[in-house]
Amino acid sequence: MILEKYVIRGGNRLNGDVTISGAKNAAVAIIPATVLVSGPCRIENVPKISDVTLLLEIMRTMGASIKVINDTTLEIDCTFIRSSKAPYDLVRKIRASYYLIGALLGRCHSAEVGMPGGCYFGIRPIDQHIKGFEALGANVEVKNGFVHANAPDGLHGANMYLDVVSVGATINIMLASVLADGTTVIENCAKEPHIVDVANFLNSLGADIKGAGTDVIKIRGVDKLHGGTYAIIPDQIEAGTFLAAVTATGGDVRIHNIIPKHLDCITAKLEEMGAEIEEDDDTIHIRRTGPLMRTNIKTLPYPGFPTDMQPQLTTALCLAQGTSVITESVWDNRYRYVNELKRMGAQIQVDGKIAIVEGVDRLTAAPIKACDLRAGAAMIIAGLVAQGETEIEDIEYIERGYEDIVGKFSALGADIRRVHFPDAEPLAEAR
Ligand code: EPZ
Repeated sequence: MILEKYVIRGGNRLNGDVTISGAKNAAVAIIPATVLVSGPCRIENVPKISDVTLLLEIMRTMGASIKVINDTTLEIDCTFIRSSKAPYDLVRKIRASYYLIGALLGRCHSAEVGMPGGCYFGIRPIDQHIKGFEALGANVEVKNGFVHANAPDGLHGANMYLDVVSVGATINIMLASVLADGTTVIENCAKEPHIVDVANFLNSLGADIKGAGTDVIKIRGVDKLHGGTYAIIPDQIEAGTFLAAVTATGGDVRIHNIIPKHLDCITAKLEEMGAEIEEDDDTIHIRRTGPLMRTNIKTLPYPGFPTDMQPQLTTALCLAQGTSVITESVWDNRYRYVNELKRMGAQIQVDGKIAIVEGVDRLTAAPIKACDLRAGAAMIIAGLVAQGETEIEDIEYIERGYEDIVGKFSALGADIRRVHFPDAEPLAEAR
């Protein structure tokens, strides 16, 4: 069987410069949002990741015209989309396909979209999305693997309170409300930077959204959105991943094309771990030369510590002096990667949402798997600090959300390669 793996020889400190790409979790919402627009949308700073490629393929099959303007710029025109039904086999490969429900409902007053896929963190319900669509006047049914949403009389503004702080539900209800008749108020919203980015994108095309980034968002429905040009924000989690890697390996790195405020929730923890951090307008300078210290982490919705940085920090803490306590409060089951770290000599006890990490002197290389996107990034960090040569399988998970991660780490002095194994046997699934 042909396998692509990352092969990493650990022990190098990271030094130099790296530039961050556009935000995955903004791009995968803004691309479906173009369904709401009558006219061409030129989107800049689009990350070259497989989740974007897949979404574009889904939209092409629905009749969207998509032009690649240059390396990071796309022009999407959904004026002539023919169908409010998204192709099941493609949709189930990606979580963000659920944004097509809100966008199609908002534009066509009907949507038929397969239940979304995405990383496995236990049950990932969309009940809050559906609750929002129903409050706007849609009939929603989940049948034969599809979400069927219909509003033959159109959508009307409504007030709603989300039972849980959900990124996806906040954005999806916003998409469905933009062209609705009247005003919608969503309370207990998520506040992540990508939510603000989607609202800014839509407002730049004529929408009337207020309060994105706070826990109350007000959307006054408008008749139409016109085309325009918009640049996606830099990726908070990609930047955080490089910051965590330098903290783990030691080194001296400048990270360019970032928004410092978005990283405060991450840099605060890295400083507790012994990193020195200086911020500039759109650059962050990180050094770690002294000992790596333990700390405790609790994941929370933004502006709390992001759950999408939990595996990367937990991995770095494996080599810290002392004991660290990790509390994963957003997802039920986000420690599957811990077994892989234990193969490398990590001392971690997991009990439900809590992980206790005992710092060890060293990790040793081993053949390991990426079990999802961020866990995969954490495995790269483990390989960078381990003694010996680590092989990482299932790298397609990593390439779903990181642009040119091998190139970027190599430029910082890491010994990392993407290797083609023509006839290799995949590692057995951990039982
Ligand atoms: C988004 O997922 C991100 N994905 C995830 O990042 C991220 O982990 C998550 O937000 C939390 O920050 C994208 O943006 C594409 P949620 P989403 O709805 O929208 C519960 C990555 O690595 N919930 O905020 O699916 C849910 O079970 C990915 O880039 C309901 O109960 O997350 C969870 O416990 C992985 N009912 C909590 O809310 C609902 O209807 C937060 O989920 C919706 C959510």
